Amino acid sequence: SPSKLAKAVSLGFTSIPVSSEDTVIVPEGYIARPFYRWGDAVGLKGNLPEFKKDGSNTTEEQAAQAGMHHDGMAWFSLPQGGESADHGLLAMNHEYIDNGMLFKDGVANWSADKARKGQNAMGVSVIEVKKNGQQWEVVRPSAFARRITVNTPMQLSGPARHNDLMKTAADSKGEVVLGTMQNCANGHTPWGTYLTCEENWSDIFVKKGEMNALEKRYGISDSDDSYRWNEVDERFSVDKTPNEPNRFGWVVEIDPYNPNSTPRKHTALGRIKHEGAAVTIAPDNRVVVYMGDDQKFEYIYKFVSDKKYDPANREANLSLLESGTLYVAKFNDDGSGVWLPLVHGEGGLDSSNGFANQGDLLIKTRMAADVVGATKMDRPEWIAVDPHAAGSVYCTLTNNSDRGKEGKAPVDAANPRANNVFGHIMHWVEENSDPAAPRFTWDILVMAGRTNGEDEKAKGSMKGAAFGSPDGLSFDPRGVLWIQTDVSSSTINKKAYEGMGNNQMVATIPGTNEYRRFLTGPRGCEITGIAFTPDNRTLFINIQHPGEGGDDLTDPANPTAVSSWPDGDKAGRPRSSTVVITKADGGIIGT
Ligand code: FEO
Ligand code: CA
Ligand code: CA
Ligand code: CA
Repeated sequence: SPSKLAKAVSLGFTSIPVSSEDTVIVPEGYIARPFYRWGDAVGLKGNLPEFKKDGSNTTEEQAAQAGMHHDGMAWFSLPQGGESADHGLLAMNHEYIDNGMLFKDGVANWSADKARKGQNAMGVSVIEVKKNGQQWEVVRPSAFARRITVNTPMQLSGPARHNDLMKTAADSKGEVVLGTMQNCANGHTPWGTYLTCEENWSDIFVKKGEMNALEKRYGISDSDDSYRWNEVDERFSVDKTPNEPNRFGWVVEIDPYNPNSTPRKHTALGRIKHEGAAVTIAPDNRVVVYMGDDQKFEYIYKFVSDKKYDPANREANLSLLESGTLYVAKFNDDGSGVWLPLVHGEGGLDSSNGFANQGDLLIKTRMAADVVGATKMDRPEWIAVDPHAAGSVYCTLTNNSDRGKEGKAPVDAANPRANNVFGHIMHWVEENSDPAAPRFTWDILVMAGRTNGEDEKAKGSMKGAAFGSPDGLSFDPRGVLWIQTDVSSSTINKKAYEGMGNNQMVATIPGTNEYRRFLTGPRGCEITGIAFTPDNRTLFINIQHPGEGGDDLTDPANPTAVSSWPDGDKAGRPRSSTVVITKADGGIIGT
């Protein structure tokens, strides 16, 4: 939706250097403070368990505490419907878990209870946050506080509800799924709901028998060293519960203002490895949702609702994502593009290609996109819509080391770099500036990479701060574009990334090609999750997996990790955390 704040014309802070320090660094004049860490109490009334640094919190305690691996996040002002910038809710994802850190004795003595603790450490947190003077705090207890886990009941909505492929012994009608998981990026709607996106769910399910075409297309695991839930919980063994994987890979809508509401999995938005869901409103008030499928050579999608957004009718808006048309993007080499509809009966999407009906097609979204000939991209991650330029959209393509390899898709105009280890950011403008339009034009905002060195293929096209593996992407209300990086922990400051430091956050104003480094994270982490208060004076971000790639914490002979952030306690564990960032003078972030 259009911003009420004036568009920024320049960045006001001084770019900071790269860093290998085990801390969060921001420019002079800014303050960054971790304030909601894995294991901190979420704020349930009468249930405020303290974090135990040796990993000994119980399964039940974990369900009342922040989960692991914070990711996407959104702000919701309190009271509901207002624009408060000093009191609100944060809804955030806990993407995945680290079994080695979650328990006192790691994966030894594996049990159903251990799997359950892991399930309680994934999903979503809703916390109430408030500014007292200059200091932000989590309100505990709070009537809004909530943890959604891998066992929270959720309703299925849309064309795949009641589909035969959605039915299991525990849910013979295909209506109610237990839980959400691998919640990566997110979206939020103008009617005040949170969208959480199920990304690497295929890692959870294990199949030992022969895989069918659908399981192969989505990469169901056959590995014994996954999360091991399948060993103790039949739901995650595909051999025993063959349709359970079909009930994951969706966008889930959560009403953070109603802690008793049942989350809904909206099948009309397709089943992929959903990175995020960027929502905007078309001129005729239909809702448009942009979504990336984060895997090598996967696609970019958009959903256009059938019904129209009505700012005065929240109850009606809550059903907008239940019906509409899903499209997949084709980027032509001449800079034009088209949204190809994924509609049963059109373009070969019928029983001759294995699609029995629309619900069946949506469960097999990737296979439908293959049939219509969409463009295979370099790992689509977050998408952001410019609040000051209607129909202008950006998408991070994080990297793809297989681009151009023998037997893989060759380079094309939209994915122009072979062995694309640094990634790039796409930009498109919808026809007539209408997000619901069937066509668009596109260009590349920036090729990520180095600003020094001899290798032409490793050169970034930006001026200023070098970066690679862009992932989190969001506009603030002033139209500054914030980019967060997720260089994998095996490559941080090494190999092609040598000298580029820890993961970071940079800012740009599109059109300037000037990039400034705003934040560097602790060792081993990625930076992800972005939420601004409506006045642009507070920024919340998440630090995910600090210390990844470090030593085994459960090995008593090896007690130090590569990171002890944020507690600085070498006998403890590094903890993913939300960080609150303000200016010391209370000013606007980015100035
Ligand atoms: Fe969970 Fe594509 O990052
Ligand atoms: Ca991501
Ligand atoms: Ca990533
Ligand atoms: Ca991640």
